[in-house]
Amino acid sequence: MAHSPKYVLFAGALLFLVTALSFLDVYYEPNTCSMSYSRPSSVEINVQSPSSKVSTRYRTYLYQEGGVSKVYTGPHTLGGTPVIFIPGNAGSHSQGRSLAALAINLGEELGTETPFDFFLLHFSEDMSALHGKTIVDEAAYVNDAISHILGLYAQHGNLAVVPSSVIVLCHSMGGIVARTAVTLDNYIPGSINTIFTLSTPHIFPPLTLDKDVTMVYDSVNQYWRNCYSEKHSPMENTTLVSISGGHIDHMVVPDSTPVDSLIPVTHGLSAFTYSIPKVWRGIDHLAIMWCAELRSVIVDSLYKIVDSKSPERTIPVTQRMQALKSAFKSPIDSLTENDTLVWHDRTEKAAYFETPVGFFEVNPKQDSNGLVIPVAQAAHHSSLLWTVLTGISVPLIERYTNISLPTIKSSLLSLQVEVLPQCQPSHAGANDIPLAIRSWTARESRWYVGNTARIVWYSESPYMPFDDSRGLYLQIFAPEICSSGPSHIARIKVDWWATLSNLAINYRASLATYPLAVVLICVFIQLRAFHANKHISFSDSLSIFTEKYLLHIAKGLAVTHLALCWRPLRNLIRSLQMPSERYNIHALQRQTFDIHDMLVGVDEPLLFWIPPLLLVMATAALMLVHQVLSAIVFANGWLQNAACRGCRGPPVPQSLKNPAVYIIGNLFWLSALFFIPYQVVFIAVTVFLLSKTVDADSWQYTFSMLFLWTCAIDGPILVVWAHNINFEWSLAFSTYRNIVAAAPIVILVYFLSQHPSPIPPPCDNVLLKRFTYACLIYMATYALVYGAMHTFMMHHLVNYFAGWLLTLYMERPQPRKLQ
Ligand SMILES: *[C@@H]1O[C@H](CO)[C@@H](O)[C@H](O)[C@H]1NC(C)=O
Ligand SMILES: *[C@@H]1O[C@H](CO)[C@@H](O)[C@H](O)[C@H]1NC(C)=O
Ligand SMILES: *[C@@H]1O[C@H](CO)[C@@H](O)[C@H](O)[C@H]1NC(C)=O
Repeated sequence: MAHSPKYVLFAGALLFLVTALSFLDVYYEPNTCSMSYSRPSSVEINVQSPSSKVSTRYRTYLYQEGGVSKVYTGPHTLGGTPVIFIPGNAGSHSQGRSLAALAINLGEELGTETPFDFFLLHFSEDMSALHGKTIVDEAAYVNDAISHILGLYAQHGNLAVVPSSVIVLCHSMGGIVARTAVTLDNYIPGSINTIFTLSTPHIFPPLTLDKDVTMVYDSVNQYWRNCYSEKHSPMENTTLVSISGGHIDHMVVPDSTPVDSLIPVTHGLSAFTYSIPKVWRGIDHLAIMWCAELRSVIVDSLYKIVDSKSPERTIPVTQRMQALKSAFKSPIDSLTENDTLVWHDRTEKAAYFETPVGFFEVNPKQDSNGLVIPVAQAAHHSSLLWTVLTGISVPLIERYTNISLPTIKSSLLSLQVEVLPQCQPSHAGANDIPLAIRSWTARESRWYVGNTARIVWYSESPYMPFDDSRGLYLQIFAPEICSSGPSHIARIKVDWWATLSNLAINYRASLATYPLAVVLICVFIQLRAFHANKHISFSDSLSIFTEKYLLHIAKGLAVTHLALCWRPLRNLIRSLQMPSERYNIHALQRQTFDIHDMLVGVDEPLLFWIPPLLLVMATAALMLVHQVLSAIVFANGWLQNAACRGCRGPPVPQSLKNPAVYIIGNLFWLSALFFIPYQVVFIAVTVFLLSKTVDADSWQYTFSMLFLWTCAIDGPILVVWAHNINFEWSLAFSTYRNIVAAAPIVILVYFLSQHPSPIPPPCDNVLLKRFTYACLIYMATYALVYGAMHTFMMHHLVNYFAGWLLTLYMERPQPRKLQ
């Protein structure tokens, strides 16, 4: 058993490496978009924003296309239809130029009376993904900018109808800013008419490290979910289109972009660029703003929905949704078994629609000379277990086969499909449809040309709302080439390599929370030994963890996963969660959606192996960090010794003093909490504690380890803060004052750093001891079960725990001596 830690390290590191490799292999796709061009110049519009605290940092520009736009000399030179662009996290106004340029040039070509005016907002590249207050500030500015812009049109003097609302284009977090804007007090009802969001993570924030971001998401999503269920909702004329580039966008989990759980189909539409006609490709996070193929679809749709004679500047909701659907969805997505498809090789007519394998027509009015493809009812293939174990084979008899796989839902899985011909071609298939595979779920579809495909889909994904009734469909178009018997056999099996790569993108947050859970369990082991009068080091407790605990906890996680697939139990466990998700769930379940937001967030029993796998990887990561850190601590000890060879050290205090004394000595750090975000203070004191740690066997080291993993959660706030300092000191020092959120840790760290070898509060009282253990176990469980959606809570829990330890020290300031 002595070698088991190394074995775990090896297995975990290997798994980690394989997952990383599969991710690089599967998720890396070259960008195939054509470049788009523009001749930008812009005029700044002076928007006063009393509602936004930081409006001096924000700007509004009117886009002017060189050689086309009228030079702006005042409101009378405006065109007539306002469009606003909202950039995303750390984005810039110039990202909107590509869409603006095409829309303006197209207007010039068409000679329309009311060309679009593009107002591009600039938020000083603020980091809205990491900081909830920034989202709200930007949203307040958006409303003020809209009211200012609509005011400009009122001064135009030359418009038959003055616009009363704007169209909004958003990139990434900008979509959340737009959706937050309508919930604020300074929103003018009806002033946002249509929202296009590109790569916006609507459902769930890309990182759950800041409590405010999560709170903004919760309240905004609740608002949207509730408001469309009212009869005369304030949003009844507002429509939303969410477009995602699919899995080559590594910034945003593609599964968090569909809005079907937020907005009814009468007002909202989600599309993946893989399935948008004429685009048919994945687009990465930044390219989605300039991809020429996509921008022409978006601009075309703008011209389809615009109506210069109405104050809203768009056609009524029902027609608008129809126009948007025809731009972003293929008619083949709404085919039923009674329809007839006709395939055409080339010739394009108005009634045809384009696909990657030629043109189609649904239910042609008169005889057409194409190839008729009857649409049959779907053939069902049920068992996921069977697919996993042996794969399934489906004989293809017709040119078109619709295969239903109702049990394959979780988009963590990927499939490999291979279509094998069964006979020699009886004739050269020149006038025949090419072999193509299409995957279809209620949320999206995708074409694969050729006889093999790796199927990736976005439907039932970790932590996302899902609707039980949906599964995967595979549709195969095959040239009919055999005189008798099936022409092809389709072989469908699970693609494990791609499945592994899906874990990498979906469980990024576990990289912080799972190792933290292991650290907490190690602290528990160490503390129990200490209370039993044995001193063991962190290293020892890590070995004990891997030898005695790891296997049991892994089994426990697998069983918990299975149990959580049962909905009543899930609801029960969820009700113990802190902060409570009750209102979110209630708003969701109103629309027949359910959510699995705990542990690994999937409702598929066969994926029971994921939590143990993550645990092993996390343990290996912790072991690696431990190796590196103890080397650093050793070097630190050696350096401090060398520096102080001649000098006699200060007298070593025999015992820890009452921490009340330290509060005064600690005023420097505590006063910092009045000015600096608590997360930054926390990172600073952790570094301070580490610099004082000279012995990897000491309790100082154990606490450093615990705080270090908690720091991983707070790190991004440091980045935001450093960015803000760069811009404006007063702003950087004015937000996030929350003294209670770090004071206990600060005092504890100071306390520990004052003693060369501090020990935990010895507690003789059995109840207090048990309570301390229970705290550690609860925190570890929280990190494992709820950590993914509430990562920020780990900071607070560790902070409360520090407060508890301080209380114990106070209760009995005179410790017994170490043996
Ligand atoms: C929506 O549009 C209709 C028709 O133009 C109008 O009567 C109604 O007041 C609008 N609703 C809102 C909330 O603006
Ligand atoms: C297809 O036609 C049959 C018979 O006319 C009918 O019962 C069935 O409901 C139709 N299916 C759809 C999806 O329209
Ligand atoms: C495939 O079959 C299902 C179930 O019968 C049906 O709902 C769906 O519309 C079909 N899709 C196509 C494209 O034929």
